[in-house]
Amino acid sequence: MRMSIGYKGKVTSLEIVLDRNGSEPLYRQIAEQIRRAIVDGRLPVGVQLPTVRELATKVGVTRLTVQNAYAELQSGGWIESTVGRGTFVSARAAVRPRWSAANGAATPAGVIGDILQMGAGAGVLSFASAAPDPHLFPETEFWAAFESERQRLREASSYGPAQGDAWLRVELAAHLAERGLPATPEELLVVAGVTQGVMLAAQALARPGDSILVEQPAYVGFLHQLRTLGLQPVTVPVEKEGPRLDVVEQMARTHRIRFFYTVPTFQNPTGYCMSLSHRRQLLALAEQFDFSIIEDDLYGWLAYDEEPPIPLKALDRTERVLYVSSFSKTLAPGLRLGVLAPPPALRDRLLGLRIAADLGSPLLLQRALAAFLHRGEFRRHLRRILPVYRERRNALLAALARAMPPGVQWTKPQGGLCCWLTLPRPAPVGEIPRLALQQGWAVAPGSVFWTNPEGERNLRLCFGGLTVDQVRCGVEVVAQVVRQQLKLTAAPVSPEEWLPLV
Ligand SMILES: Cc1ncc(COP(=O)(O)O)c(C=O)c1O
Repeated sequence: MRMSIGYKGKVTSLEIVLDRNGSEPLYRQIAEQIRRAIVDGRLPVGVQLPTVRELATKVGVTRLTVQNAYAELQSGGWIESTVGRGTFVSARAAVRPRWSAANGAATPAGVIGDILQMGAGAGVLSFASAAPDPHLFPETEFWAAFESERQRLREASSYGPAQGDAWLRVELAAHLAERGLPATPEELLVVAGVTQGVMLAAQALARPGDSILVEQPAYVGFLHQLRTLGLQPVTVPVEKEGPRLDVVEQMARTHRIRFFYTVPTFQNPTGYCMSLSHRRQLLALAEQFDFSIIEDDLYGWLAYDEEPPIPLKALDRTERVLYVSSFSKTLAPGLRLGVLAPPPALRDRLLGLRIAADLGSPLLLQRALAAFLHRGEFRRHLRRILPVYRERRNALLAALARAMPPGVQWTKPQGGLCCWLTLPRPAPVGEIPRLALQQGWAVAPGSVFWTNPEGERNLRLCFGGLTVDQVRCGVEVVAQVVRQQLKLTAAPVSPEEWLPLV
């Protein structure tokens, strides 16, 4: 069957040939031929596809068959349907995600850009981004919270206090208390995500050229920030219990350390959680060697097995912890709203830096979040999402155990969104993400989470945005690529050389 489709004054044609005796279901054959026409450019972005009824009649199949074909294309991001308007080739079909890390020369900023665009392309499912599932966003409840602020819209359309809306800070103080962190609204600063909170904290504590401690591996966004600020990273390996305290001590003896940036609870990229005794000992070292701690508690609410230890900030008796968290992993990264709880002596300096940066966060959004928290919606939302992420984490661990070749190890995260794989030998890890992407799967290469290129044996898999079936299917693909690559590389290194993280 061939049919003509008009688009922007031009006529393009869609040809569908079915093998009615083949084993491939008819809907799949239709979907695949439309997908190929999109990839080839025969069906450009924005072109309107025939209606279900039209196509079913022309091709000689039932409407259900065409509906299933369209549903498959839609779930892959190739097409979009709008009620009353029709079905169109999606703008996502034009995005061709690519790993710049595959050539081994990627900068943290380049990789962050890569990760952000991985979910934007059609036909790509992503283990690469440590993002929550947008399908779990509490749309109705958040919208109702937004609506409830309508009467005060005029007031909320002005500049707000740079420190953050007073009502939101009251709600944030109550929110942090649930995480075991006592704080008054006056002590808190609303920030544009952890990213901004960490940036302000680092600017307040250190100058270009200063040495700071950072976990290895570490969150790639912070590696980008420290480069931008001209800070000198001194690295501390991370183990199951937390960062190696003997190394912290040794480095603090030999360097003038300004601060230690740590993600103690369900770290990105490893998923590890620092034990309570480690937290206490780290604070004692900070006091002994007089350095500050920037505590990134972005994942602290996402605990799947048992409650994690209370934040370092809650144990801090000498006012040296700057605590930062946000709603990016529990609600939505697009909100760009978070909280910074510094020692009181630093508050004014941080406020000055915030005013210099952007004067403050959008007032309307802050009020909506305050209303959302005030109504108890955050707690209800957490109760809904935790079992979903727990099931996905379990599916990931079970699939890895089934599919990965011998010698591959991985962490067992008790919370958060990340799992860290260690291969038995340094396969060309940049190659694995590249090959997985060819099969429609994005996986972050481990090398980008190190300050030096040690990550040739690591991959990070984030499970938050994928259904259980997608997790299973993706692990099969990644395991197959890992198997192929390991075959191509030399003999295993001795187990003692493995990272002691699993
Ligand atoms: C450890 C860590 N810190 C900070 C961020 C960025 O957080 P936000 O969206 O709140 O700026 C991320 C995002 O992945 C992260 O994993």
